Amino acid sequence: MNRFNGKNIIIGITGGIAGYKICDLIRLLVKENFNVEVIMTKSACEFITPLTIQTLTGNPVYTELFTLIKESKIGHISLAEKADCMVIAPATANVIGKIASGIADDLLTTTVLATKAPVLIVPSMNKNMWENPVVIENIKKISKYHTIMNPAEGLLACGVYGSGKLPEVDDIFEMIKIVLSPKPLLGKKVLVTAGPTIEEIDPVRFISNYSSGKMGYAIARVAKRLGAEVVLVSGRTALKKPYGVETHYVKSAKDMLNKCKEFIEDTDILVKCAAVADYKPESRADKKIKKGKDNKLTLNLIKNPDILFELSKYKKKGAIFIGFAAETEDAEKNAIQKLTNKNLDMIVVNNVAEKDAGFEKDTNRVILITKTGKLPLPLMTKEEVAYNIFDHLKSLSLT
Ligand code: PMT
Repeated sequence: MNRFNGKNIIIGITGGIAGYKICDLIRLLVKENFNVEVIMTKSACEFITPLTIQTLTGNPVYTELFTLIKESKIGHISLAEKADCMVIAPATANVIGKIASGIADDLLTTTVLATKAPVLIVPSMNKNMWENPVVIENIKKISKYHTIMNPAEGLLACGVYGSGKLPEVDDIFEMIKIVLSPKPLLGKKVLVTAGPTIEEIDPVRFISNYSSGKMGYAIARVAKRLGAEVVLVSGRTALKKPYGVETHYVKSAKDMLNKCKEFIEDTDILVKCAAVADYKPESRADKKIKKGKDNKLTLNLIKNPDILFELSKYKKKGAIFIGFAAETEDAEKNAIQKLTNKNLDMIVVNNVAEKDAGFEKDTNRVILITKTGKLPLPLMTKEEVAYNIFDHLKSLSLT
């Protein structure tokens, strides 16, 4: 299931050097079955050609205000009505100024005035222009009506280092999904843990597990889309920080517990997806342990704190605690035991021995278990598992 299937995105490209990056944004959108239609200003056509954009979207590109398009409707009205979301990227200081003043002198600015869809504005310009008080004033004004995505910092095309760079294309892509999503979790604080913990044996070796962080990061992304304020406490992963999510990186179970403690008293929903090492070496060697003459090396392991159990002592009234259970046998029976022992409201059990589920995969097959029943789910993407967890909380009136 793709929750954004067929959504109509109208992209307005204005005359900035970052315009070429929008080709990648269009490719991401088209790949996930969005319908993309593009309006280009005259200056945008100096940087990239309408033919390139048309080839990528598979739709005609609109450049003129006074042309009739399909069904003989006036172009800007047709596009404005069709849009589920309008995105202006890159947005120059010029277009920002026009929108702030209600000027509608070309197809793009006219469509912005005519649409009732949410408008996402992604400015990109020279650092001095971005810091100009007039631009600052205009941004302040339009942010009352539209969503602004602040530019990134970096080396700009003009050779200057600073703020004004187009944000990364996959962050714009994620922001479009945030803008398009309903907000049932608005006002909720969600704390998510993800990835593996690491317990050091010596400076070069550690005990860990196969968690990639994919499941937990999907939960954090989806919670953000649904309107929550999200904190992610992550073990070591190769994944990019989810856009708009406050992310903290930790190593050991003890670090994870301490970091979670900083947020737990304010947390409305905790989703403890991290794969935590149950045991750690009794002591960590300061220097690399040398290979000895013996064929054996014995490591003494001691129990780590149970993070979920410890955090339950600080649980805010009305908060929901969700755990995961990674099982290879008697999955349901073991998960129900964990639901009770760890004082949880829900446990999400996955059989990590299945070939298309559990560690490192993009898909998962889980059962959502609460004190009142269970909901087995078929194989689906980890993102879809995340949506199902939050939908289930709603259906149980837990949120
Ligand atoms: O990261 P991926 O590659 O996408 O893989 C996803 C996953 C398989 C890691 C994920 O779906 C999952 O199952 N996470 C839970 C892993 C785990 O530690 O399961 P467990 O059954 O050992 O622990 C049960 C619960 O107690 C978990 O919520 C765990 O975070 C928590 N726990 C465990 C030990 C401990 N000392 N403290 C804890 O809080």
